[in-house]
Amino acid sequence: MQSGAADALAVVHEHILVCTDCPLHLKRTQAVPGTGPARARIMAVGEGPGETEDRLGRPFVGAAGNVLTKLLESIGLRRDDIYITNVVKCRPPGNRDPEPAEMEACSHFLDAQIEIIRPAVILILGRHALARLLPGAGGISGLHGRRVVRGDRLYVPLYHPAAALYQGSLMRTLEDDMGKVRGYLDEAEARRRQPAQAAAPVERAPASPPATLPVAPPPPTPVDPAPPPEPPGRDQLSLF
Ligand code: URA
Repeated sequence: MQSGAADALAVVHEHILVCTDCPLHLKRTQAVPGTGPARARIMAVGEGPGETEDRLGRPFVGAAGNVLTKLLESIGLRRDDIYITNVVKCRPPGNRDPEPAEMEACSHFLDAQIEIIRPAVILILGRHALARLLPGAGGISGLHGRRVVRGDRLYVPLYHPAAALYQGSLMRTLEDDMGKVRGYLDEAEARRRQPAQAAAPVERAPASPPATLPVAPPPPTPVDPAPPPEPPGRDQLSLF
């Protein structure tokens, strides 16, 4: 099982490394598939490689990566135990936002990575990953730090670590949000150990239909009460 997943993930990585499906391949030094165990219990998904990642071929190894590593360590997790990747696998020139067509072209790689790894918890780093993984769920400023249940998987939207570098006041928020992740992981693992309940959501809004792990998933259900309205100016930084 383990080597099957590792082999399958290696094949996906090989495809990513030679991918020419969108214009991002033209300016990359190399593609950045992802790092971490094929059976990681936690996966972290960022936006796209930056300059350092493009040079080294690994995700989150620049300044934002240092923040991510420290945040993980602050809750007793080792970075090496987490599978880390991005929505787009090649660096957008000048660190611009990835364009919709680029995210679309890259989409199947992230889908394959999630399907192979089957993480219990997915940390969603920033608004691009949020829009890609939980479309229609809401903005990052309303959902950060909360858990969203889909089938037997838990998603936790977080501010992007780079955002905390640009806006110091967000660092505390990010630390507080990360502090909740350990508990979320324990909860998700406990649920997975109970086969009879594996397909049921932890909680759902009263009006939600029973969860059935449908092919086309219903809108995500935040476990907490409805998110507060988006404050004005929330997207001043593109990484939020
Ligand atoms: N920012 C990202 O979104 N991903 C990286 O790999 C590095 C910085």
